[in-house]
Amino acid sequence: MAKMLVRMKALMVLTGIFFMLYFGLQPLTEMVEKKPLVSYPKEVVFVNTSECHIAGPLKSAAFKCAIEPINKMRCRKKQLTIAVTKGGNNFLVTQNVAKDLHCKYWLRSARDLKNDKYLEEGHFDLESKSSKEIKMGTGQQIVRIKCLDKFNETKYHDVQYFLPPPDPDLKPEKNLGKLSVMVLGIDSISHMHFYRYFPFVKGFLLNLPHTKFYGYSRVGLDAYANLMPLLSGLSANEVDPELSANEEAFLWQNFKLGGYSTAYGEDNAQGILTHKNGEWGSPRQPIDFDLTPVMMEIDNHTRYSIDLKEMIHCTAGRTYQEVFKDFILKLIPHMQESPFFSFFWQSQGVQEYYEYGGHLDLTYMLLLKKLLDSNVLNNTLILLMSDHGLRAGTYRMSFQGMKEESQPLMVAIYPEWLKEKYPLAMENFEKNAHSLITPYDLHDTLMDVLSLDLLQDASIESRMKSYPAKKMPRGISLFLPIPEHRNCDLAHIPSLFCFCRDLTEVPTDDGLVLRCSRFLVESINKLIKPFEKCHPLKLQMVLQAHFLDFGEESFVYELRLRVRTSPGNGIFEATVRLSDVLLLTSPISRVNNYLSQSYCVSDPGLKLFCSCI
Ligand SMILES: *[C@@H]1O[C@H](CO)[C@@H](O)[C@H](O)[C@H]1NC(C)=O
Ligand SMILES: *[C@@H]1O[C@H](CO)[C@@H](O)[C@H](O)[C@H]1NC(C)=O
Ligand SMILES: *[C@@H]1O[C@H](CO)[C@@H](O)[C@H](O)[C@H]1NC(C)=O
Ligand SMILES: *[C@@H]1O[C@H](CO)[C@@H](O)[C@H](O)[C@H]1NC(C)=O
Repeated sequence: MAKMLVRMKALMVLTGIFFMLYFGLQPLTEMVEKKPLVSYPKEVVFVNTSECHIAGPLKSAAFKCAIEPINKMRCRKKQLTIAVTKGGNNFLVTQNVAKDLHCKYWLRSARDLKNDKYLEEGHFDLESKSSKEIKMGTGQQIVRIKCLDKFNETKYHDVQYFLPPPDPDLKPEKNLGKLSVMVLGIDSISHMHFYRYFPFVKGFLLNLPHTKFYGYSRVGLDAYANLMPLLSGLSANEVDPELSANEEAFLWQNFKLGGYSTAYGEDNAQGILTHKNGEWGSPRQPIDFDLTPVMMEIDNHTRYSIDLKEMIHCTAGRTYQEVFKDFILKLIPHMQESPFFSFFWQSQGVQEYYEYGGHLDLTYMLLLKKLLDSNVLNNTLILLMSDHGLRAGTYRMSFQGMKEESQPLMVAIYPEWLKEKYPLAMENFEKNAHSLITPYDLHDTLMDVLSLDLLQDASIESRMKSYPAKKMPRGISLFLPIPEHRNCDLAHIPSLFCFCRDLTEVPTDDGLVLRCSRFLVESINKLIKPFEKCHPLKLQMVLQAHFLDFGEESFVYELRLRVRTSPGNGIFEATVRLSDVLLLTSPISRVNNYLSQSYCVSDPGLKLFCSCI
């Protein structure tokens, strides 16, 4: 353990030195906090238009969180095999074998999600202190391996995934002037959180053409509600699970039809796109490389957790995150071959632990470097992004934390030649860095990438002339100028997630505040009423109330409330509109953990509200 730590530290130092040599001193000076010679801005301006002004402090409020020492969390079991493909054949190569073992393995199809039968099984023996190569087969394969010692005790249980490089004999269709797309998502990272915890990635970006979209806002409560608009152009409520079998419902299908290879990977078996009733909201057939069957096999058979909340998982000696990273790396040769649409999403750790992001910084910097070195970056638009900021915990309770929850990270990285080839489109793109934008816009942007001809100057000019249309569309391609007068309503951002307008704090014992808070709790009770196992909730306390100012001409008044309920001490936030009747104008957000209180229900949407009787 201690040795590992020393090695890690040495690696960090070496990387630092490499960084300095490779990129000059510039990024490093940014990482070392020094007193600046010129006065440094204290504020970051996110959006500054006539309809919207969002700014925030550069430094977070003094905040020390009591978290588990995440840097010491490692998988405690041994990694006895690695998956290697040589000359078109897959081999399990064994390592670190300390005892004689008898192993059994099961092969599973990497393509067929529905089939839960194994294709083949077999045995092999391992001798202590020797290495062995066991031939498995060819192509994409999933294999589960279980090894017992002579006392029949399990010494190794793991799942390996073979993802061979493309067959050199198959002549790929060349890129044909297409631009690949990679969505590289890290859950629960706000723009400011990236600023504080990703110095390596931030430094690396200095040397790449990129645009940081400061005005990127969430439109829904959770990952699903923010990613459906990106993937389908529809809101989470509009996505019909029946319709998802539709040929062009999701970007994967759009890109497949456009002649791209496609990939999907998450560091989880129950991905963020899993629909509420457990059914996946998207068809998998057209996805060429899918990590889900691998994660499911791991989750079903070899998973164990290493943190107290049991949210960070391992298989044998690897975290889920490492399995996920390995998947991306093994796809690089494929990305070099043909136009490629990929969607990667990482959520373990970052969703739970405030400082976990810092733990990923180096990993993502090295990943970007691999993509640069393999020249994948020269043909790819990367969206390094998130869905929302941290959704619960101590930091989330602060006013700044509440704001940051609605300001997810969004950085676009693109090849230099894009600016030369499509000057007007890219000028617009860069000018939108401080516009109020949403996942709906990203969908339209990626649809434009599918037909690059639309980005020619002439085409952009004619689109700009017929624009803005009378009715502003919900999604606008970022290759076009986002109209200056766009506000949250026009962008379809619910009030609860909108920080364009000033919030005025009002006393929590105000009569109107209390009336609205009771209404909020009643609304929750309506939701849980059909479920007898859940306690009806009572308003225990109003913790915070803000008045939303819609400007002088408006007759609309809204209150943004934070209340605590009993039993269960749930803390909820929502906005309530005051007119003749009271009206809930946002989803209800739970900002503290429900832990085991909701054991009696399984629907994640219901778990937020249910305190079991
Ligand atoms: C915001 O925009 C206004 C008007 O264009 C300008 O006067 C002001 O300086 C801007 N503020 C910042 C912080 O950029
Ligand atoms: C281990 O299991 C095998 C098969 O189940 C059995 O034949 C054998 O006796 C067991 N060995 C020990 C030491 O329990
Ligand atoms: C995983 O386990 C669940 C229940 O334990 C089962 O329904 C499902 O079919 C399994 N999936 C795979 C891929 O084995
Ligand atoms: C990057 O791509 C452009 C356009 O396809 C090409 O002209 C250029 O040579 C490429 N650069 C490298 C380093 O491969």
